[in-house]
Amino acid sequence: MKTPLLLLLLAVALNVQCALSSCPHPPSQWCSSLESALQCGVLKQCLESNFTRSHQTADAVEVVLYYESLCPGCRMFFTEMLFPTWLMLKDIMSVTLVPYGNAQEKPDGQKYIFECQHGEQECLGNMIETCLLNMTDVAYQIIYCMESSTDVIKAAKSCLELYSTRLKWDSVMSCVKGDVGNQLMHQNALKTGALKPPHQYVPWVTINGEHTEDMQDKASNSLFTLVCSMYTGPKIPACGGEAKPKRYRSYCHEEESGTLGSRPPGSGYHMTTSSHLPRLSCRPSTLDGPQPGPSARSIKPSRSLGTLASYVSKAL
Ligand SMILES: *[C@@H]1O[C@H](CO)[C@@H](O)[C@H](O)[C@H]1NC(C)=O
Ligand SMILES: *[C@@H]1O[C@H](CO)[C@@H](O)[C@H](O)[C@H]1NC(C)=O
Repeated sequence: MKTPLLLLLLAVALNVQCALSSCPHPPSQWCSSLESALQCGVLKQCLESNFTRSHQTADAVEVVLYYESLCPGCRMFFTEMLFPTWLMLKDIMSVTLVPYGNAQEKPDGQKYIFECQHGEQECLGNMIETCLLNMTDVAYQIIYCMESSTDVIKAAKSCLELYSTRLKWDSVMSCVKGDVGNQLMHQNALKTGALKPPHQYVPWVTINGEHTEDMQDKASNSLFTLVCSMYTGPKIPACGGEAKPKRYRSYCHEEESGTLGSRPPGSGYHMTTSSHLPRLSCRPSTLDGPQPGPSARSIKPSRSLGTLASYVSKAL
């Protein structure tokens, strides 16, 4: 019984010195295993975070988003509302994405043929995102990267490469073109078809399995506030709960500044800032055929985290 603990301590000791230089994982995966936590020098933090999570007394607030990969309103809701909220409130909320929306399916032998509201490209986008959700635990980050790019489909490969070194684009494409993707998309069709009440537009949100217009409105205005208010456990610091007082003992003096807040060009996130855009949603319609996806003008990626900050300040 004692050997694993000893090995662990030994591993910790060995890893302390070379922790940062030998960390091959993106931050989102640091806590995904004991090994990566050790390699990245964040074992203590990961154990604490895992402890908090496993001692959560109340159920997480379950948010499910039914959406389409090229619907402008869906892109805005995911990039400006759901993803930033999830980043801040992961510990008290669960997120499920169902890319399908107003698509339709027809059986064709053992498989299904799909038709999407915004055409073939949207079906491809839905399928790539469905496969990602099935194949990697950094799917939300990759989908965020895609949906906040000018061209959702063209961005997919580089977004994948940015967040995952393990999953290869070829594997994603074999899912997309193969039976697995087809079956997974059929599951999305069934989940979307089973909604009660049936969805009338996308983005369509359910919270703890329910949809009401009131909830949808609140989710669209500030999902952050809604999730904080619906969580029945003790208030977490992000929601304005009591945080342990912190005494800051390290200061950054002038000569060190300048590296903070500035990112090298071409690195990091693209964050959509489009508060000037109207709220959009896509309603199913038999009249409108395939439409082109949003143009560069309708969704502008930017490198600013200003939107995120504005949600936090609005919510507080
Ligand atoms: C944290 O919890 C996850 C899920 O339970 C587990 O897979 C992972 O190994 C844990 N990480 C650490 C550092 O213990
Ligand atoms: C991925 O899809 C396969 C095949 O449908 C399924 O068995 C598996 O549970 C899925 N995995 C995840 C993580 O969703």
